[in-house]
Amino acid sequence: MDRFVIEGGVPLRGSVKVRTAKNALLPCMAATLLTPEPLEFAGSADLRDIASMAELLRHLGAEVEGEPGGPIRVRAAKIPEPECPYDLVRKMRASVVTLGPLLARYGRARVSLPGGCAIGTRPVDQHLKGLAALGADIRIEHGYIEASAPVLRGGEVVFDTVTVGGTQNVLMAAVLAEGRSVLRNAAREPEIGDLARLLVKMGARIEGTDSDTLTVEGVKALGGARHACISDRVEAGTLLIAAALTGGDVTVEEIVPDHVEALLVKLRAMGARVEPGGSAVRVSCPDGLSAADVTTAPYPAYPTDLQAQFMALLTQARGVGSVKETIFENRFMHVPELQRMGADIRIDGNMAVVTGPTPLKGAPTMASDLRASACLVLAGLAAEGTSEVRRIYHLDRGYERLEERLAVLGARVTRVKED
Ligand code: EPZ
Repeated sequence: MDRFVIEGGVPLRGSVKVRTAKNALLPCMAATLLTPEPLEFAGSADLRDIASMAELLRHLGAEVEGEPGGPIRVRAAKIPEPECPYDLVRKMRASVVTLGPLLARYGRARVSLPGGCAIGTRPVDQHLKGLAALGADIRIEHGYIEASAPVLRGGEVVFDTVTVGGTQNVLMAAVLAEGRSVLRNAAREPEIGDLARLLVKMGARIEGTDSDTLTVEGVKALGGARHACISDRVEAGTLLIAAALTGGDVTVEEIVPDHVEALLVKLRAMGARVEPGGSAVRVSCPDGLSAADVTTAPYPAYPTDLQAQFMALLTQARGVGSVKETIFENRFMHVPELQRMGADIRIDGNMAVVTGPTPLKGAPTMASDLRASACLVLAGLAAEGTSEVRRIYHLDRGYERLEERLAVLGARVTRVKED
């Protein structure tokens, strides 16, 4: 299990480019199951989650070509058996978004229930409710979702809660259903808009892209397409927070500044200098930071995936700030680790109150999930002395060689390989 060793205290400076968003590419890769024609993705990222999705598609019978991190070509000419086994789904929950496309193309699918994970119970009831509204018969048998619908028919779906994966799953089923579907209270995350744009290139008829109501006129078949997925707004946000946290001056390139607007508003309110321009954002922090409050909520509000990183930032801001987590019930696993480094954080239910600034002291820490790992790396950058972040396989699921990206900005982060 690899770990990072971080020498803190270096203000980050320079420019860095962001990679393709894994959370956009994963559902787009699942969309390849909707057609026997080839799909080509211009960019990818060398991440464990992308490799896991490629493995799942291959298991289903698709041809997947491309080097890690480079363009990917997928062709699902034939799928002998539309079944996603537990051992593949358990590696990556996002595999569950294969359910909608498999059901739409084959009339049946058997996909392992993904189960909970370190950040919460993460049910998929809204995925199933949406597919049932399109006429699917759904049973849970022996830990598997068994869905069948010889013919999917358009229907009206009102999601009880805003769900990214649920919207993706039902959207991908609706594009091949007979007639019109309306998805209300749909998630508006940029990754949904990206998927909808890919589906339209494939021949789908979708209106309302980027809004909370998606109207879909089903078509009989979809074709191949070429697509470049959006860049990773969470990676971008993590790097921008790193700049502010270390009192540095960093330009993050190849991003859509609108996608990180909720973070930029907070950084400005805290006293950072934020300069968006075209597809880049520069953040510097000449006068220190004052505390702020954030509440996570669906896009366009402040994202849960940048919550842990923001908490690291608050430890270095003047005054009392707070972080309220409303999306996942167990996403404060980074707090005890930050406290071990000297942070002053009090938890009250789903709220963390952070009093700063506190000098952080380098310490060995243990990563518990993807974004918590990023938080600990950031804390290590701000800390005095040497920190360690263990179990960075979590980090490698969503950040491509983060140590190299940070090194470009002057950070002293070393990956130590261990058996
Ligand atoms: C996506 O997960 C992202 N993953 C997550 O990123 C992100 O944190 C999350 O959206 C919220 O933005 C991918 O895109 C691969 P949800 P997803 O369905 O789709 C509840 C990261 O670090 N819910 O929008 O699984 C659910 O429990 C990851 O990159 C139901 O109750 O999230 C949660 O509380 C982690 N029933 C809330 O909705 C359902 O049927 C939002 O979940 C579905 C969800």
